[in-house]
Order: sequence, then structure tokens, then C-alpha cells
Amino acid sequence: MAEILNHRKLGDEYHSLTIVAPEIAEAAKPGQFVNLRPPTDRSYLLRRPFSIFRVNRRGNVAATVEVVFDIRGPGTAALAAMRRHEPIDIVGPIGRSFTIPKTQHSCLLVGGGVGATPLFFLGEELQNAGKRVDVLWGAATASRLVAPIEAKRLGAVAAFTTDDGSEGHHGLITEVLGEMIERCGTEVIYTCGPRQMMASVTKIALEFGIPAQVAMEELMGCGIGVCMTCVTPVWNRDGTGIANVRTCVDGPVFNGARIAWDRYAKEEAAAALPAGN
Ligand SMILES: Cc1cc2nc3c(=O)[nH]c(=O)nc-3n(C[C@H](O)[C@H](O)[C@H](O)COP(=O)(O)OP(=O)(O)OC[C@H]3O[C@@H](n4cnc5c(N)ncnc54)[C@H](O)[C@@H]3O)c2cc1C
Ligand code: FES
Repeated sequence: MAEILNHRKLGDEYHSLTIVAPEIAEAAKPGQFVNLRPPTDRSYLLRRPFSIFRVNRRGNVAATVEVVFDIRGPGTAALAAMRRHEPIDIVGPIGRSFTIPKTQHSCLLVGGGVGATPLFFLGEELQNAGKRVDVLWGAATASRLVAPIEAKRLGAVAAFTTDDGSEGHHGLITEVLGEMIERCGTEVIYTCGPRQMMASVTKIALEFGIPAQVAMEELMGCGIGVCMTCVTPVWNRDGTGIANVRTCVDGPVFNGARIAWDRYAKEEAAAALPAGN
């Protein structure tokens, strides 16, 4: 159980909760997440997963973790109603983090919508490790871009795309990704966002011969490796078969080249078939 230090709006669409959690802040790595629940709300049982947006370790016993989210359903609505100094039920840090490259220098962060959230923490850690960081954020509309001013500060080059053209390039991230890779001399890509976007980002990265680390956001039940709600299909190392691994504890960060992206396309097509087929 922890205390909320601050609750603020981030732009028009997003909420930010800063939570005093020194042990989590100390242990957290970029790409990991926390599971949250208001302790007094009995309308749902399962904690909800949120990427760690930022940690502040300077406060020692008052060190904090920050999450950013938008309202989707009852869980996020209840969290959005929480105020400063209220207690919050928090479990974390959970999962496997992004890895900082040893040999490559130039890193491109590609975030789709609220999926940009874990890339801020990652970008700061990459900069601390002396790496070059560039940023490419995409969203449906300008107000759905996460913290664009901070993103501009983070990236040596920062570019945006929106589906409606209200900010940056009018269109999809994937339409400008190749140009960004060439312009920035990108050697590694880190991405988080909608699954189809991450599949396309991985494909383009591989065409350029660049590794892509992807942070998957699957539906989760327990969030601690017990229920198998969250599986991601991953190719075995020798490419001979696919294993269904738990996104919460075996991920959420994976090597994009190892994910069996076609498997999702087949499942979605099967789900769309009328009953009886
Ligand atoms: C590892 C991980 C990190 C995440 N990080 C963030 C984050 O930083 N900020 C943020 O806003 N959201 C994040 N999410 C998504 C967030 O957990 C869901 O939006 C939240 O659980 C929805 O709960 P709810 O009760 O409000 O909505 P529900 O009523 O449970 O669902 C409302 C809608 O959200 C979708 N949804 C529910 N759970 C997820 C999920 N796990 N992933 C994607 N869509 C979901 C449902 O399909 C439904 O359409 C993350 C999810 C995962 C797995
Ligand atoms: S959410 Fe239960 S095993 Fe991953």
C-alpha cells in the first residue's frame, strides 16, 4: 500500500499519478510495469497494469514512480478519481525490461498513442548511458500524443504523426519511419503501441537490418504469471515452433523478430467468422 503524492492532468486526455514507492522506484527498469487498484473500490477485483512513465529516486524514502493513463473503463475511471494523499494498492515492478544496447549508439523510440508512456523512462536511461535518442510519436489526433513538449526535449530529433493531420505528418508512423531511420542513423528501435503498429515497425526495422525491442500490452488477469490470460506467441530460438509465453512475466518487452505476428492475424480473422464456420 502506498500514498499518492500527486495527481495531475497531462494535456487534455491523460492523467498522471505520482506514487511514493521507494522500493519500486529503486528496483524499476524501463519497460517494466506496476499493477494498481484503489483499495476502497470493490466494483472490480483485478489490479490494472500500467507502464512506469518515470521514477524519481532523489527523495530516498519518498522516492516515487509515476504512471500516465487515459480513462478506458471502470478501473481507469476509479484511478482517475483518486486524489493526493489517498492510499493506493500497488504491486511492482513487474516484467522484463528493455535492454540498453552495448555496442549500438543511436536509438529511436517509436510510440503509438498512450504506448509512448514507457519510452520516456527508457529515453532518460539511454541518455544516462551516453546514447543518442530520437523520438517518433504517433496518435489519432494531437491531444492523444503523450507529453509532446517533453518528447521534444528528449529527442535529438522529435517527430510526430497524427491520423487527422492536427500535428506533424498527416498519416501513420510507418509512413515516415524509414526516413527517420536514415536521417537519425538509427541502430536500435524501441517501440510500444497498438499491436498492428508494432508488427509493422518490426517489419521495417528488419528490412533495415536493425533490431526492434517491443513492449506488448496484452489483456491481463493476475499480472503475476499465474492465470495465462496474457500469452504472446513467440518463435523458438531455432525457428521450429511457437511457444505461448506469459506477457506479464516473460515480457512485456520482447525481441520483435521473435514474435509470431501472423498468429494474431489468423486469430483475428477466425474471430471475425460468423458462428458455425
Ligand atoms: C504491460 C501493460 C502496460 C500498460 N500501460 C499502460 C499505460 O501506461 N497507460 C495506459 O493508459 N494504459 C496502459 N495499459 C492498458 C491498461 O492496463 C488498460 O487500459 C486498463 O487495464 C483498462 O482497465 P479499465 O478497467 O479502465 O477498462 P476495462 O473495462 O478493463 O477495458 C476497457 C477497454 O480497454 C481495453 N483494455 C483492457 N485492458 C487492457 C490492456 N491490458 N491492454 C490494452 N487494452 C486493454 C479493453 O479491451 C477495453 O476495450 C497497459 C497494459 C499493459 C498490459
Ligand atoms: S496476466 Fe496472469 S499470467 Fe499474465
